[in-house]
Amino acid sequence: MNHLLRNALLMNTTTPVDISIVDGVLTAIDPAGKGTAPADATITDLEGRLVTPPLVEPHIHLDAVLTVGQPRANESGSLFEGIAVWGERVKSLTVDDVIERSREVMMWQIACGVQHVRSHADVCDPELRALNGLIAVREELKGIIDLQIVAFPQQGIYGFENGTGLMRQAMVEGADVVGGIPHFELTREDGVNSVQFVFDLAQEFDSMIDIHCDETDDDHARFVEVMAAETIKRGMTGKVTASHTTAMGSYNAAYAGRLITNIKRAGLNMITNPLDNSVLQGRFDIGPIRRGHTRVKELLKAGVNVAIGHDSVMDPWYPLGYGDPLQAAFMLAHYGHMSGATELPYLLEMISTNPAKALGVDSAGVRVGGPASLVVFDAPSAEDALRRISPRYLVMRDGEVLSRTAPAQTTLTINGTSRDVNFLRP
Ligand code: FE2
Repeated sequence: MNHLLRNALLMNTTTPVDISIVDGVLTAIDPAGKGTAPADATITDLEGRLVTPPLVEPHIHLDAVLTVGQPRANESGSLFEGIAVWGERVKSLTVDDVIERSREVMMWQIACGVQHVRSHADVCDPELRALNGLIAVREELKGIIDLQIVAFPQQGIYGFENGTGLMRQAMVEGADVVGGIPHFELTREDGVNSVQFVFDLAQEFDSMIDIHCDETDDDHARFVEVMAAETIKRGMTGKVTASHTTAMGSYNAAYAGRLITNIKRAGLNMITNPLDNSVLQGRFDIGPIRRGHTRVKELLKAGVNVAIGHDSVMDPWYPLGYGDPLQAAFMLAHYGHMSGATELPYLLEMISTNPAKALGVDSAGVRVGGPASLVVFDAPSAEDALRRISPRYLVMRDGEVLSRTAPAQTTLTINGTSRDVNFLRP
């Protein structure tokens, strides 16, 4: 199918353009009104709507989605009650159960404009049910929404029976990325050893690394420094990601400064998960309650690649969400003090180009000669897309329309007079 998309507003520009698409390739970008429709093209007037590259979800737990309330509610909302509830729910896990829930949320992600996903799969299970369910969905949806699966030891590598064997088995059976959880191991020494085990395994399978690292308010949790050191010593720059790293928010400034220097030197990718961590951290504080998130602004200032993850969708740890990265970006605008004039549009980079770099997926952007994979927001700017968490008007991959959302219409009637309201500044 060929297309002409008229009056599209590209990221970081102010003048609309026409986009031509032939056989799945973006063939021309012309000033608005100057584009020529390719043969047999469908012509769509975007009326100045924002067009971006596909969104990328760098951190989600698809094996746990849609389990909120099962087998019981997390009454406190805390991380530890969440882990206890999941420990009960996981007993009834089946491969089909994982397939059905993860497939449904991936459909939601497609409608939100997401085309690349990295999901953790809990491998603390002798049958590897979560992994096998996600592998089945990965194959089913290949080419529509691409899935990377992380072998994730939710209960620890050394604190769980045959933890190292299950991690290796997960990689043999088809996991793409090696995960870890050093701050959850039984001792600090086990934590350090677990990071080294993860790096050894990744080198053995020539894979990337994505570790849940220092997801705690304990300022003595300092395993990111081990990750940076191993990355530097082994020459694995670009292949390693540290997720959550909330303890960084509690480190003293001298230590944090030295650590960020080494993170930059190692070329670590950093993923912050503002939705889950805004409700899970600070639970032991009486007041003032710490925000409990990583040092996003300092990392960005140092030139580190930082991306935003959603983490959970309706599971024992986070009962809300529908997989839309824009909700997580909206949260970070507040929770991370990223409301500055240039920071707001940059939040969209943190859910598209930055996570693409972390995942090592092609991020061609919206450019001539690239694939016609793009997202149209029902908004006239990045700021308005964030402000109203705008629906995705159109989602396209390789020239195929995957999703359309009709804009909502609100009609106000006051004293017998009606008018439409779209919450946009006139
Ligand atoms: Fe996570």
